[in-house]
Amino acid sequence: MMTLIAGNWKMHGSLALAKELLPALAALEVRPGVTTAICPPAPLLGGVAPLLGRMALGAQDCHAEAGGAFTGDVSAAMLKEAGCRYVIVGHSERRQFHGETDAQVAAKAARALEAGLIPIICVGETLAQRESGAAQAVVAAQVKASLPPGASAQTDFVLAYEPVWAIGSGKTPSPDDIRDMHAAIAAQTCACAGLPKERVAVLYGGSVKAANAKAILSIPGVSGVLVGGASLTAEEFGGIMQAA
Ligand code: PGA
Repeated sequence: MMTLIAGNWKMHGSLALAKELLPALAALEVRPGVTTAICPPAPLLGGVAPLLGRMALGAQDCHAEAGGAFTGDVSAAMLKEAGCRYVIVGHSERRQFHGETDAQVAAKAARALEAGLIPIICVGETLAQRESGAAQAVVAAQVKASLPPGASAQTDFVLAYEPVWAIGSGKTPSPDDIRDMHAAIAAQTCACAGLPKERVAVLYGGSVKAANAKAILSIPGVSGVLVGGASLTAEEFGGIMQAA
């Protein structure tokens, strides 16, 4: 199965950073079967695209509608036209700061698929949910409700497990917790979309850096990583690409 290393710049970066960082990353040798994707803020997509070499372009969000009077939003088709292969949907920061629901995430994922993009569908529990022992139930419910309607073995999508408390905190779950959650996510996805387990790709995200990437990527059921802060420097992100 492929390994996906995706960098989520969030609302960071600039064209100047892209021009410095991306040629250095594009020059790195990665193992065959590893795909690297860079997800910059929407206004930088056009400037980033020609700097990627063999790396893929991704976006951080798309609207659930195909088009219309939605000031400030971007459509999946526009992202496709800008050269994107991937789009992140349902990131916890979208869920938290923009009130996105599972149903909206599912609709965004469906719109992404319709436009020919591969959605990276994010799920993950909060600290309170983990401490109350509800993490697996919460995440399984998110998966069920966030998958695009009609997802099947023919649908090309990726899931990302990002515990909210691990994002930007320097904390990560134990390897056993990651393994168990990835297995639960894969099982739920198989049940919902009728996919064989080997076809379900689940990335891990939350405080991934060069120093822990190899250990995380070697956990059974981890198909890649979604990287925030560490995607902004060549040393860190390059280290993660090479760990893969
Ligand atoms: P982080 O963010 O790597 O900075 O923890 C991950 C994410 O939010 O995708």
